[in-house]
Amino acid sequence: MGMLDNRVAIVTGAGRGIGSEIAQLFAANGAKVVVNDFGGAVDGSGGEAGPADEVVSTIRDAGGSAVANYSSVADYDAAEGMIQQALDEYGKLDVLVNVAGILRDRMVFNMTEAEWDAVVDVHMKGTFNTTKYASIYWRANREGHYRLINFTSGSGLHGAPGQPNYAAAKLGIVGFTYSCANALGRYGVTSNAIGPGASTRMTDTVPEERRRRPGDDSENIVDMRRSPANVAVPIVYMASEASDWLNGQVISAMGYDIGLYSQYEVIRNLSGTEMWSVERAAEEMERVFKPALEGSRMFG
Ligand SMILES: NC(=O)c1ccc[n+]([C@@H]2O[C@H](COP(=O)([O-])OP(=O)(O)OC[C@H]3O[C@@H](n4cnc5c(N)ncnc54)[C@H](O)[C@@H]3O)[C@@H](O)[C@H]2O)c1
Repeated sequence: MGMLDNRVAIVTGAGRGIGSEIAQLFAANGAKVVVNDFGGAVDGSGGEAGPADEVVSTIRDAGGSAVANYSSVADYDAAEGMIQQALDEYGKLDVLVNVAGILRDRMVFNMTEAEWDAVVDVHMKGTFNTTKYASIYWRANREGHYRLINFTSGSGLHGAPGQPNYAAAKLGIVGFTYSCANALGRYGVTSNAIGPGASTRMTDTVPEERRRRPGDDSENIVDMRRSPANVAVPIVYMASEASDWLNGQVISAMGYDIGLYSQYEVIRNLSGTEMWSVERAAEEMERVFKPALEGSRMFG
């Protein structure tokens, strides 16, 4: 018995990297998987069927069940077709994992409109596109243990300076995940996000001296903690029927560590009885907020 027996899943961006590991581990645990990947370069250019087909073949060779889908998650109408494909092939949809992603890194002052739009389109709009059509199905068929699992990033959570488009999109995905957690719970859907870390062609774009493990790249993983296979492990449980209790959370999955992020909350409050003067607000903010930030992660 696998943890995902009788479950049907769509994994976007499953032709390579982390998505490919998720699709394979899902299938090994009994899920039937739609392997989506448009097969382009890391900057989102190009596109070919090869990566999705290869993962489907690997799953089938191992005795699992999978079909390929080649559409771009950024294509709103094609997203409807992807959900329909799962229903046509397998009769239902239990799990949607939005993994697909690209990079177009640039400092904010040099970034072009096209670089901004391309990254926001794939990550943030792409996550909405597939979720919209999956949620229509889930709302109409309320007897499931449905799972929405989205991909965020430390780049957004910690503010990577050379990735303003990616950081914005990835933190936007967290807000979207929280919204879906509140909106879709009544239909049996949980909505959570993953902040992963692994050597893939995406992290190969990070200059050698800034890599977590110097010498490590996706073609030559020297430390198996950097393998994307590790990231897939907690996601199998999150996709299973057993994880009903987990909703509206961000889980980090990196190496052999599985973490639970805190949620935003006000940690110091200045409560007035009337409109503050600018001078008093300045004085009190410095007096109360500044010490609260000492020793915490500083920006700049
Ligand atoms: N690798 C890391 O350390 C890391 C860290 C933080 C977040 N992430 C996120 O994890 C996810 C997976 O990244 P990865 O490192 O495996 O990268 P990857 O480049 O190896 O895999 C991404 C896959 O998504 C596919 N893809 C891109 N645009 C698509 C589109 N429009 N439609 C369908 N498929 C598309 C690509 O073809 C590729 O196969 C991404 O969302 C990424 O932002 C990765």
